Amino acid sequence: MATALFSLLWVLSTVHAQAAAPAPAFPPGVLATGTMGVTNPPAPTLGTTINQTSVARLLSLNSIEDFCLFAPPVPANISDTETEEVAWCTKARNNARVIPDGAITGVSFLKTAFYVQIMGTGNFTFINIPQGDWGGELDPHGQFGTGNPVGGNVTTNIVDGSDLNVAEWMQYISYDEFCIRACTNANATYSAAFMCWHELDVMGCEFVMPGTYNAPGTFETCDADVAYPPGWYPEGVDAAGSTSFSTFAQYFTGVYTGGDGQETGYTVGDLVTPTAPASIPSSSNCVTTSTISNGIALVSLGITTGSASATATASGTRSSGISAARHNASGGGYAAIALVGIVSGIAAVMALH
Ligand SMILES: *[C@@H]1O[C@H](CO)[C@@H](O)[C@H](O)[C@H]1NC(C)=O
Ligand SMILES: *[C@@H]1O[C@H](CO)[C@@H](O)[C@H](O)[C@H]1NC(C)=O
Ligand SMILES: *[C@@H]1O[C@H](CO)[C@@H](O)[C@H](O)[C@H]1NC(C)=O
Ligand SMILES: *[C@@H]1O[C@H](CO)[C@@H](O)[C@H](O)[C@H]1NC(C)=O
Ligand SMILES: *[C@@H]1O[C@H](CO)[C@@H](O)[C@H](O)[C@H]1NC(C)=O
Repeated sequence: MATALFSLLWVLSTVHAQAAAPAPAFPPGVLATGTMGVTNPPAPTLGTTINQTSVARLLSLNSIEDFCLFAPPVPANISDTETEEVAWCTKARNNARVIPDGAITGVSFLKTAFYVQIMGTGNFTFINIPQGDWGGELDPHGQFGTGNPVGGNVTTNIVDGSDLNVAEWMQYISYDEFCIRACTNANATYSAAFMCWHELDVMGCEFVMPGTYNAPGTFETCDADVAYPPGWYPEGVDAAGSTSFSTFAQYFTGVYTGGDGQETGYTVGDLVTPTAPASIPSSSNCVTTSTISNGIALVSLGITTGSASATATASGTRSSGISAARHNASGGGYAAIALVGIVSGIAAVMALH
């Protein structure tokens, strides 16, 4: 009897194990293996209470009308607040702040076999980025190794409908433009880390995340071909059909203080900076919508955003009407970002040599 019961239980548990959907196999380096940042909910959640002073740092990148961005908690340049940015979402979700309707004026949502990429325009003074801020770059590494912002996390459900925490992502944002990519796949040629390469922080959206950068007013969801990883240029194809690449490393010089207190000057990167990525992948199956809106009347809820003081102190500094999220920036406003580049650049140089 005891034996019979045991085998019945054994059969039941076997059946149960078979009924549970097998976890999709993702290549190493795609899914995040660490814990969520301490300010984040345990999992992405729709319909959470609106809190415009939230410090949650969990982005979900699911669709043209359901995505989030990192932006400052209070009005401040991105380069001064990289470790502190908080999540702002198009919907009430993730305990995060809500992006006010009207802030976003255009979005291209691209789904590819290796990543999801969202590019957009707007008036991001609504989310605490001062008018004229050329912006900066955010990623899960940062100078403390815990992300910029610290404890920032990113999920997407574009692969199989379930929320996946990705290990590698990158976001560029200025006062009027953003681009964000979360890497969802890898193969022997392209790791998730290469496809979301985070060491080209002054190169801008169009170089690092090539795509069609539409003028404001376009809202579209498309499939797209896979870009080459940022900074990769195909050189040739060998007899076996495998492609070789040259890679571009952003140039910078700096001084490194060693453990013994001695300062050492160094230079990393390439002297010649390319002006364009290897190619701009084609989009297909585009579906356009007139706009996106959450219909949440933040002001009538007694909620105001931090934009007023941001615009009051606007510097309005622009170079030929081009923001750094969009193009090369060779100075000003990049001190903090350059420092991140130096630290990670040293690591890269050490790893490569
Ligand atoms: C959250 O982000 C941290 C810092 O980048 C990372 O180490 C961790 O794996 C992420 N956790 C999840 C569940 O995404
Ligand atoms: C909003 O978030 C802040 C920061 O986490 C927290 O101090 C505050 O209690 C939250 N407000 C509500 C109503 O939950
Ligand atoms: C913010 O950045 C812009 C350019 O990106 C710069 O002109 C301005 O002085 C910066 N503001 C502060 C407070 O550093
Ligand atoms: C990885 O995927 C890319 C893009 O589809 C493809 O060009 C490349 O050949 C693949 N590499 C391998 C080893 O399958
Ligand atoms: C952006 O929004 C602010 C209000 O937050 C407004 O004062 C400013 O004129 C807007 N900028 C543009 C270019 O529309």
